[in-house]
Amino acid sequence: MSKILAFAGSLRKDSLNKRLLNVAVEGARSAGGVVTVVDLADLPMAIYNADDHENIGFDANAFKFQELLKDHDGLLIASPEYNGSVPGGLKNAIDWASRKSDKFAMGEVFKGKVAAMITASPGSFGGIRCLSHMRGVLSILGVNVLPSEIAVTFAGEKFDGNGTEITDEKMKHILEKLGAELVAMLKKTHGDIGFVSDTSS
Ligand code: FNR
Repeated sequence: MSKILAFAGSLRKDSLNKRLLNVAVEGARSAGGVVTVVDLADLPMAIYNADDHENIGFDANAFKFQELLKDHDGLLIASPEYNGSVPGGLKNAIDWASRKSDKFAMGEVFKGKVAAMITASPGSFGGIRCLSHMRGVLSILGVNVLPSEIAVTFAGEKFDGNGTEITDEKMKHILEKLGAELVAMLKKTHGDIGFVSDTSS
């Protein structure tokens, strides 16, 4: 079974990235992946400060995020570009999760995972500049990032207003394919783990 954790780098309710992420999620599910979608807006975290970490302790929501990450083999991430890079909120969540906690060693919840990345922007670059930064961050944490990546330009035009149904069939297909590609890679690298039961005697 390929277990994938999907999340967006935007905390915004009507986020274009959240809506496009869901299209890729459906592609992953159709390909046999088991996907958990987490909204980072539901896991607000303090800005990482090593002094607070030491004196106050590990952020409770960051720990929940760590547990979610540990429980999945694949990551499906759709993030906007903020000023040419990864949004601070997403980077902060990754920074927290990368640290040692009571349960996990440093970097443990990322190492060996496979990730697929999407970025979307209402603009003509589609947020493409954040992808190389995100790839770098994930790579340093031992995550294998798929060579395929998607930047959705003029993303606001892919939906009917704030609707959640993508209206661009070609983009829908591309996003679904990325989700399926992630599942295919997970099957190769992490295998299909069957459930063997011996309760007959
Ligand atoms: C942006 N936006 C933006 N867009 C872009 O293409 N390149 C950029 O560098 C930036 N920088 C940026 C910085 C900050 C602080 C904000 C708030 C926004 C615009 C951004 O792409 C747009 O708001 C998207 O709609 C955000 O994605 P979600 O929230 O719709 O997923």
